[in-house]
Amino acid sequence: MKTDRLLIIFAALMLFVNCNDAPLGHSPYEKEISQRLVEMSLEEKAGQLVQLNIDKICDPNTLELMPDAMEEIFGRYKIGSILNTMGENCPDQEWMRNVMEQIQKYSIKGCGIPCIYGLDMIHGASYLAEGTLFPQEINLGATFNPEHAENMGKVLAYETRSMDVRWVFSPVMDLGRNPVWPRQWESWGEDAYLQTVMSETETRAIQGEDRDNIGMNNTAACIKHYLGYGVPVTGKDRTPAIIPDYELRERYFRPFEACIKAGALSLMVNSASINGIPTHANHKLLTEWVKEDLDWDGLIVTDWADIDNLYERDHVAADRKEAIAMGINAGVDMIMDPYKPEITEDICDLVREGIISEERLNDAVARVLRLKYRLGLFTNPTMDSDRPFVGSDEFARLAYDAAVESQVLLKNNGILPLRKDMKILVTGPNGNSMRCLNGGWSYTWQGTNNPRYVEKYNTIFEAVKAKFPSTRYAAGVSYIEDWAGQDEDASGILDAVSAARDCDVILACIGENSYCETPGNINDLTISANQRNLVKALAKTGKPIILILNEGRPRVINEIEPIADAVVDILLPGNYGGDALAALLCGDENFSGKLPFTYPKYVNSLHTYDFKVSEKREMIDGAYNYDAKMDVQWSFGDGLSYTTFRYSDLSVDKSTFRKGDSIRFSVNVTNIGPCAGKESVLLYSSDLVASMIPDVKRLRAFDKISLSPGETKTVEFTLDSADLAFAGDDGQWHLEPGEFRISIGTESAIICCIE
Ligand code: BGC
Repeated sequence: MKTDRLLIIFAALMLFVNCNDAPLGHSPYEKEISQRLVEMSLEEKAGQLVQLNIDKICDPNTLELMPDAMEEIFGRYKIGSILNTMGENCPDQEWMRNVMEQIQKYSIKGCGIPCIYGLDMIHGASYLAEGTLFPQEINLGATFNPEHAENMGKVLAYETRSMDVRWVFSPVMDLGRNPVWPRQWESWGEDAYLQTVMSETETRAIQGEDRDNIGMNNTAACIKHYLGYGVPVTGKDRTPAIIPDYELRERYFRPFEACIKAGALSLMVNSASINGIPTHANHKLLTEWVKEDLDWDGLIVTDWADIDNLYERDHVAADRKEAIAMGINAGVDMIMDPYKPEITEDICDLVREGIISEERLNDAVARVLRLKYRLGLFTNPTMDSDRPFVGSDEFARLAYDAAVESQVLLKNNGILPLRKDMKILVTGPNGNSMRCLNGGWSYTWQGTNNPRYVEKYNTIFEAVKAKFPSTRYAAGVSYIEDWAGQDEDASGILDAVSAARDCDVILACIGENSYCETPGNINDLTISANQRNLVKALAKTGKPIILILNEGRPRVINEIEPIADAVVDILLPGNYGGDALAALLCGDENFSGKLPFTYPKYVNSLHTYDFKVSEKREMIDGAYNYDAKMDVQWSFGDGLSYTTFRYSDLSVDKSTFRKGDSIRFSVNVTNIGPCAGKESVLLYSSDLVASMIPDVKRLRAFDKISLSPGETKTVEFTLDSADLAFAGDDGQWHLEPGEFRISIGTESAIICCIE
């Protein structure tokens, strides 16, 4: 009795002592978190802030966990998190569940806290051997249909749970506004609004509706890479970006803000730098904009070894210890430091020396613990993982539907659709490769070819042959299949040309082999000389050529586009992309994809659709003759169909509006062509006069509809007046009086802000 009372008094005292550092979260677990913070040693706290790579505890030859290493990592260093897969070995459910069971056993024994495991599930459960691989995000952007982002998010989380893993580094939401950047395909495209809608939808789908109690079939999302990663000046991965604050706010921050408001539980930092400051050291972006301004209680994790980059690469810290302090003090809560568990000792020293405050340490630890509580790791560190639908036909259908809606018909002189009795030559380095269809983050980091995982899926050649029995394949040009896979062998061009003489039509499947991150850096956006030569040689046969572009970014094709009768950009459509293409080519399915980025025509003329009005002008006569010419291959939003849609009767519920008003629009869309089709209806606004040079137009809303021949549908949109505001040089939002043009398809209307 006496001891009980003493214990109660002690616990009350500890809570009191702790209340200065009480966590600021909004979860139902704050009391438990406070209690744990009181009980944890400094070493235990430091361990929670560190994430290591799986190969620190797993033997690369046997793929078995190593008990001594586990003791060390969880017992001695008390590491809080593990990530990744074992290199070229994609895990299957059984292996991963066993790994999770052992990790949790050692972690709980070592520090009484379960471990959180994170995986890059980028386009479906892309790191699960039995998983369903969807098209990459860039394709889903091209569908302009959030249903696909929702399906991918749900399936991805469900299948990840079958491995007993509860944290995915997805969605990727870098705006792909520099087409040279090797990660453009990981994003939904170049537009901030499209990015916002798709990311928000996927985040909700991954996490489910209750962020405090993540469900059995959901995981935590990790939105990435915060902020401005997609626009390095040179286009090379992880190199500096220069982005004015108003642009950061208006375009780059918005999608993140929306996802955080939608409940995103964690965020990964941009590996590079903006305006001379490495993002991992940017207190304003990490702490002020996200944690303070949005009152967000989630977790910020670094990207791969990026603390090291602060001193080794960027030279903003003199040594590793300074770099660690810099990152944590800027707002980093967990350090992905793949190979150096000793970092925990540096963190302890920095706290003892007062360079990292106890308060910051406790806040970071609280954020890690909060995520673990929300994921139910304390109550159920391992869980029943049987999930009957993993890799099911039902999921395959969803991935196939997304692939169909994501392929973009950019040119058709009438040759498409093709008759099924036609003799087809499939040629080009992308014509018979699953690696090319999937791109990076597919079973392995670089998406390297592993027949074990993909043999049951159809390459373009296999899928086309299934629809068109008289189909042959001659590569012409091949990728040399090493790890990076970017070199080519052009010795087959003559064979391909002679095979072409005997066919009715040539499908020239060109583009890029798979790559990911820095290995995908290029010096020239033009498609390779070998591939251009192949197409030119084929054209000399006089047979019609259909270019099938299978690429993660728009490789410049101005030299060969004019000799093609049709062009389809299939982007990176995943395991069902070949089947989808074959069905589209013969007209069993109809095209409805639209480009989510601008396709450049020249390497020195890279644009986005939302350029400044002054970037494209007819000649203005005057003191000097100002003009600005812009010539792109295809524009954002371009994409043809086998049918035709007519827009009519745009109406607006008010022609003038004030701040705070909503404005409603409706427009009729009629299918006036011969077959059923889907249409993405896009609403753009143009601010006609503004105190900062306005963008020529901005996407503000979209909806995708299906129409039978002859059918009309009325599409309605509601805009908030705030949607028309722009971020000024002062970092504030401005909605200025004046006129705006709203356009939907061929229709447009002027509305006027009067205050
Ligand atoms: C990538 C991240 C990824 C991380 C963990 C990094 O190299 O930039 O996108 O989540 O590795 O695999």
